[in-house]
Amino acid sequence: MKKEITPELGREALFSLFKTRSPLGPLKAMAKHVGKFFQIPIPGFSPYVVFGPEAARKVLVTDRNKLLWRNTDPVTDLLRRGVLVTDGEEHDHYRGLMETPFHPSQLAGYTEMMIAQTEKVTSTWQDGQTVDMLVDGRKIALLIIMQTLFNKDAWNDIPKIWNPILKTIQYVSPGLWILWRKIPRLGYGKSLKALDEYLYEIIEERRKEERKTRDFLQHLIDAGLSDDIIRDQMLTMLIAGHDTSTALFAWTFALLGQHPEVLAEVLKEVDGAEGKYPLLDNVIKETLRLYPPIHIGNRRVAEEMEFDEGKIPAGERMFYSIYLTHRDPQIWDDAEQFCPERFAHGRKTPPMSYIPFGGGPRACIGAAFGQAEARVVLAHLLKNFKFEFTGHPIHAHMGATLEPRPGVMMRVTKRVESRE
Ligand code: HEM
Repeated sequence: MKKEITPELGREALFSLFKTRSPLGPLKAMAKHVGKFFQIPIPGFSPYVVFGPEAARKVLVTDRNKLLWRNTDPVTDLLRRGVLVTDGEEHDHYRGLMETPFHPSQLAGYTEMMIAQTEKVTSTWQDGQTVDMLVDGRKIALLIIMQTLFNKDAWNDIPKIWNPILKTIQYVSPGLWILWRKIPRLGYGKSLKALDEYLYEIIEERRKEERKTRDFLQHLIDAGLSDDIIRDQMLTMLIAGHDTSTALFAWTFALLGQHPEVLAEVLKEVDGAEGKYPLLDNVIKETLRLYPPIHIGNRRVAEEMEFDEGKIPAGERMFYSIYLTHRDPQIWDDAEQFCPERFAHGRKTPPMSYIPFGGGPRACIGAAFGQAEARVVLAHLLKNFKFEFTGHPIHAHMGATLEPRPGVMMRVTKRVESRE
């Protein structure tokens, strides 16, 4: 039976909204009191929320054909026919074309490039300067994804595309449009157009090139897709492939900054053997557990779905919460604690309880890439710089991804021979 949301619970949810400065607090309060299936009680916007391994399996695998990824949100307006927001055969066609460059067998080839792009950003750091790892992490992630997807060194373009990219992300982030879908979205047009023009220019240049580069963009061109459809896939990958990594880098620094004893152990590891970093890998996994950059999956129910706790009628909105699944105390010991060690001895929790990249046939295309990127970039940064967290408060902000706000301010000093 579906439990009701009582006025007391409403008050508790509101209190936690103020306390945590994010809707994650109220979601947790509802999960605690109502369970793994509830409906958000906002007039005009009342999506169902489900979480836990059983729900994840249903949504991502067994009942996925009852759901639509294509939605009525700004993200669909922005990405048009992008792989993330299409369904059925159309989706499968694009996905088939897009997977190859991100196959795990391709990853080793990206390492040197990832380091070279990281160094472009760190070359601007002055010794003792305070840097915001949310900002500089984004620069690194952007440079890496542009080089990977389009063989484009975007270093000199950053001043031109920075604001258009931030505005584009803001355009798809939760806002008043949730309650009032037709609210005028003023102030975005110029930025969206600038980013579009930038992408169409890259396509045009490539079409003119005689010696073709083998990369993601070329794959789409060779498949005979139109410029518009190529733009849609480019923008999808550009946003999905860098905003997530940005959040992951920033949260990892936030958590290492808040846990100096773990940071000290990670430093020992990266200063030792080259290449394999089991502790750093577990730090990345634990960061993705506590702060999954994509914290919910957004769906529209096309055909009635039945869960143990109740039904969701066709036509309703549904979110499956990765965040709540990752913090379920029935699954995770000390669920709220940062404890990379929990991943040290193989899996101890049920399948589909750890889903930072989603799951099933529409799991993240860039899962292996994103993890390899985080390992390479973080190891390189930690080997070469001393990072001291300035100790300011951080809260989780629900934007397009879950972001540490107001940023992650760290004092950076070059570690030369001393390796302190
Ligand atoms: C830390 C990094 C990343 C995280 C945490 C992440 C997370 C996710 C999640 C949870 C989904 C599934 C969403 C759902 O079920 O609704 C997803 C899908 C997707 N991701 Fe990622 N992602 C990351 C990096 C990347 C990268 C690097 C790329 C591209 C190079 C990428 C491209 C995509 C695409 C295109 C989809 C849609 C797949 C489809 O619908 O078939 N992601 N990602």
